[in-house]
Amino acid sequence: MASETLTIIDNRTGKQYEIPIKNGAVKATDLFQIKVTEDDGIVSYDPGFMNTASCQSRITYVDGDKGMLRYRGYPIEQIAEKSTYLETAYLILYGELPTKPQLAEWTHNVTYHSIIHENIKKLIDGFHHDAHPMGILVSTVGALSTFYPEAKKIFDVKARRDQTYRLISKMPTLSAFAYRHSLGLPFSYPDNDLSYTGNFLNMLFKMTELKYQPHPVLERALDILFILHADHEQNCSTNAMRSVGSSQVDPYSAVAAAAAALYGPLHGGANEAVLRMLMEIGSKGKVSEFIKKVKGGEGRLMGFGHRVYKNYDPRAKIIKEVADQVFEVTGRNPLLDIALELERIALEDEYFIRRKLYPNVDFYSGLIYQSMGLPMDMFPVLFAIPRTSGWIAQWEEMLLDPDQKLARPKQVYLGAGTREYVPMDKRK
Ligand code: CMC
Repeated sequence: MASETLTIIDNRTGKQYEIPIKNGAVKATDLFQIKVTEDDGIVSYDPGFMNTASCQSRITYVDGDKGMLRYRGYPIEQIAEKSTYLETAYLILYGELPTKPQLAEWTHNVTYHSIIHENIKKLIDGFHHDAHPMGILVSTVGALSTFYPEAKKIFDVKARRDQTYRLISKMPTLSAFAYRHSLGLPFSYPDNDLSYTGNFLNMLFKMTELKYQPHPVLERALDILFILHADHEQNCSTNAMRSVGSSQVDPYSAVAAAAAALYGPLHGGANEAVLRMLMEIGSKGKVSEFIKKVKGGEGRLMGFGHRVYKNYDPRAKIIKEVADQVFEVTGRNPLLDIALELERIALEDEYFIRRKLYPNVDFYSGLIYQSMGLPMDMFPVLFAIPRTSGWIAQWEEMLLDPDQKLARPKQVYLGAGTREYVPMDKRK
């Protein structure tokens, strides 16, 4: 049997090294023994972690070439069809599908932590009327750490579990309050009779009616979108969660950091960019002209392409079906025809085929959110709510992994060598 090692010859010294390969990976620290002088061991240089595994994980598996996504081994297609967001969150967090009593207990605990301290409302009131809801969410979730100082006990199982209930439960409340603040509407409090997504719709849209009744199709559609966004292995915000969490800070502060990473347009903001692009194109007849421009290097086809998926993003396939169900209730989003035409032309075009560019999760999700009456500013917030379960699961896995350490990358220093301090009057 071939040996599970990598042989490296350093041509600077002629020395040969044998490095173990485990689970398809070599340890970057094993490279450090390759040196010319006593203290110049080789480091691996990898901006953007293009080929660096920062952890071992048992949560989510993505095969980008095959367009495959699994949570804890279960294909996303089966979970989206048969599960609910809360059950999926349990699976992601605890590794197994819950039994009936486990699910009942979990649902109860998440449901009964949804109210936020009234002082958080005062904090929200301090924001400008046009404050971006994602900015409000990042700030308020971080502020929760001051209301639950016991959250610092990150190696205490019960404390971790309590913060998990609170975070999963309060993210929709904070998000909905941020949205209502932007409209100058009174806050709508959680309704424990409703499902996770039904209650979120209640907190977003309830007006003067005594009891809000979510439309079952929209409630289920949002639940599926939440399932699809629950985790996606080591993406930018999850990496932020693990990296910040590795300092052993409380989970509220780490979630604030992860949400801040998600706020950026290259991560959680792409579905907004898709809508803006569709509005700019304006009509089906102008799609060919737009594609020509993209191929000529003028901008990108937003919602297409992915760092990992080099095939149709499996989440996009499911979202497309959900979109049809939503439009039957809300009426067809007029931008849909432009999106379908873009997809049709792009999938037949040599430029996109050669580069393996397919629709990603963001291509249709914005259209659904817009049809449900949600403004574009809320799109990253709608991503952050379900991703919280993934962030916490990844954070906990990191905390309990004996291999993990404080995240502190190396650098390749290219700056000035030692020089003498120059007094002000001698500087040129
Ligand atoms: N439209 C046109 N050309 C594209 C696109 C696109 N959307 N995406 C990539 N390309 C081209 C790119 O110009 C390059 O061509 P060439 O080889 O001729 O220079 C080639 O494809 C490879 O591109 P890349 O930038 O090296 O690929 P990447 O893996 O670094 O980029 C991406 C991944 C998602 C940033 C990129 O595909 C993109 O900008 N897509 C549009 C934005 C988008 O939809 N983002 C959502 C990502 S999914 C949500 C999430 O996970 O957060």
